[in-house]
Amino acid sequence: MKQIPKDKGLDQSVNVLREGYQFLPKRFERLGSDIFQTRLLGKKIICLTGEEGARLFYDNEKFKRKGALPKRIQKSLFGENAIQGMDGDPHQHRKLLFMSLMTPERLEDLGDITRKQWQKKAQGWGRKKAVELHEEAKEVLCRAACQWSGIPLREKEVKKRAEQLWLMVDSFGAVGPRHWKGRKARKLSEQWIKELIEDLREGKIEASQGTAIYEMAYHRNLDGQPLDTQIAAEEILNVIRPTVAVSTYIAFGALAIHQDPKQEAKVKVAEDEYIEMFAQEIRRLFPFVPFLGARVRRDFIWNGYYFKTGRLVLIDIHGIDHDPRLWDNPQEFSPERFYNWKGGLFDLIPQGGGDHYKGHRCPGEWITIEAIKASLNFLTNDIDYEVPLKQDFSYSLSRMPSLPESGFIIKNIVRK
Ligand code: HEM
Repeated sequence: MKQIPKDKGLDQSVNVLREGYQFLPKRFERLGSDIFQTRLLGKKIICLTGEEGARLFYDNEKFKRKGALPKRIQKSLFGENAIQGMDGDPHQHRKLLFMSLMTPERLEDLGDITRKQWQKKAQGWGRKKAVELHEEAKEVLCRAACQWSGIPLREKEVKKRAEQLWLMVDSFGAVGPRHWKGRKARKLSEQWIKELIEDLREGKIEASQGTAIYEMAYHRNLDGQPLDTQIAAEEILNVIRPTVAVSTYIAFGALAIHQDPKQEAKVKVAEDEYIEMFAQEIRRLFPFVPFLGARVRRDFIWNGYYFKTGRLVLIDIHGIDHDPRLWDNPQEFSPERFYNWKGGLFDLIPQGGGDHYKGHRCPGEWITIEAIKASLNFLTNDIDYEVPLKQDFSYSLSRMPSLPESGFIIKNIVRK
């Protein structure tokens, strides 16, 4: 049996928060290995990177998700009973529910709704000198996600709900106030959605078949029972919260257009094929999810290394999306790399890897791509704007989640 290379030092929990997206990649590099062992929250853990590491991590025979998520993340970001912590047949059954929402027609709807919501939003910009794009995107995507999901949203609650959905996302790499804000936002959001599910089930409101609220409210578990209201609410939030999170990619996308050295992006993004590649490159390059965790289902040996039952294993999501063995000049923004790209299941993994139906890979990848495309289409085709240079375009690799420091400000906006 080979010894798994060990990270130096004692418990690394503080360093995870301090080093953020670079915590794992730095150690793989220092140890010259795709696997190492360290200690987090007092427990031994194994960390994996590389395409082969991802392939292993997504082997359901070897790993499970039960007990892998820290309670604090469930209480703020995901919910305590949601799909992220499920395994086996119940997981696959729940996953089908999410996947059933992602028909080509419904995804096209999402794109149309998002672009229209941007256009509506822009009508209100006439009187403003400048707007901060990330802030606007949160609201636009909240409106779009609710409309698409069949969730009634009163005009006066839009800002509040958008902020609550964002605060859950913003809490994931935090301790202290940012974490507690996420927890509070989750409580309030769950309450909001639970009441709507009850109203729907009691016939007080209506929703169309195929919308998230309808399908979740009337879904049946494998035992034939409807979803508990709490769980249904967590799963509906699992649709609208991450849709609002796409606002991050929109801010980064606007930044990529602005920083394009040839200044061609603005024109080229208007082309269908290019915008798709552009969206993929945004997801690959810019930081969002740093790593994911799973627990060893039962003892096994991989490449001569022993994995003990119950051990927590982390996969280096951010590192794999920047792995020079998979991507030429990985730190460069280059949508052209996706020209004729024959992607595998374990290389471009900002939203997880493997098979969508069998594993935990994000069922919202298409929503994400559609929302980015609709938003970039709006920015390049529907308005003209200037980018004030007096703003901070940098973004942190230690704060999780990250964003351009200024969020991305645009001014002198003219509707075309
Ligand atoms: C799972 C990222 C947008 C719904 C995941 C996972 C990641 C991820 C990394 C975990 C994969 C794993 O555990 O192996 C993202 C990012 C997004 C995004 C970065 C965009 C900013 C969305 C959207 C939806 C969504 C728009 C809406 C449906 C989910 C759900 C899961 C999930 C329900 C759990 C799947 C499961 O456990 O089987 N996402 N996601 N995500 N995502 Fe997304």
